[in-house]
Order: sequence, then C-alpha cells, then structure tokens
Amino acid sequence: MAKENSPLIGIIMGSDSDLKIMQAAADILKEFEVPYELTIVSAHRTPLRMVDYASSAIERGLKIIIAGAGGAAHLPGMIASLTTLPVIGVPIKSSNSIDGWDSVLSILQMPNGVPVATVALNAAKNAGILATEILGISDKNISKKLTAFKKQMKDEVEKKAKAVETKKNS
Ligand code: RP5
Repeated sequence: MAKENSPLIGIIMGSDSDLKIMQAAADILKEFEVPYELTIVSAHRTPLRMVDYASSAIERGLKIIIAGAGGAAHLPGMIASLTTLPVIGVPIKSSNSIDGWDSVLSILQMPNGVPVATVALNAAKNAGILATEILGISDKNISKKLTAFKKQMKDEVEKKAKAVETKKNS
C-alpha cells in the first residue's frame, strides 16, 4: 500500500552522466508538487537492480516510470517488459551516442506488446509533464495545476507576440 506523499513517479536513468538532462523531469514534478523518486538503474551494468526496481514498482506505489538513457538505450524498454505501469522514455544524447538517433530509435522502436511512450531527444521536462497529465486524469487537483500551466504558457507567448508586433510597428 502506498503511503501518503510516497513517490508516485519513478525517475530512473542509466548513469549519473544522464542527470544533467533528467533533472528537468524532477524539476517540473516539483513544480506540480507531484511526489517522485530519482535514482540510477542501468540495464547493462546493473541488470538485477533493474529487475528488482521494475518488479517492485507497483507494490511501492509508483504509478508511472520515467526512464532516460543514451546510446544503446535499453533501459526504458526493459523496464516496460517487467511492469504493467506506463513507461515514458527519454532518449538522451550522451557521450556514447553517435548523434542521438541511436538513443531515439532504441527507445521508440519497441516491438508490439511492449510500448514505451517516447518523448523528444533530451526532453525530460516533457516526460515530467506527460506523467503529470496521466495522473491528472484521475486527480482534479493535479488537473487544475496543468490548466494553470497551459494558461501561463499561452500568456507568455501572447506577451512576446505583442512585444514583437510593437517593435515591428515602431
Ligand atoms: C547509457 O550509457 C547511459 O544511459 C548513459 O547515457 C550512457 C553513458 O554512460 P556513462 O558512460 O557516462 O556512465 O547506459
């Protein structure tokens, strides 16, 4: 049974070198006040830790897992193979990436039956927003925060549009 304020989202990554990208997922979850946990789980270097993490996730109260990895980025797909929770994959352009496409395709091109919702290259913030939106389906409080977030984005663009138009017409 999940305790109140126990993590709802698990953020994992293949290496501490991924943290500079994955931190954006944690930051946006913090902004939405969604409890999360964050750690390193490597598909290749700690395969048994990966099995433990994914197979205990539901019992520990997690609802969604965000997994980031680069290069031969098997982590999100392997996690998805081990749990029925939704998995959001963040392809990372890392030191062992050729150009980033390797990470994108490793995470995106999952075989039938084992989906990973893949965000854009390095788009950990979007992974955090998508995870929050999934929770928002059944949580009005979270859904309200998302509505406010969208309004803030709209207001910012309109403000910038006005500034550009004023400059052009002056
Ligand atoms: C992947 O290898 C990790 O997700 C990381 O993106 C990449 C490089 O890892 P390090 O060599 O920096 O630990 O497994």
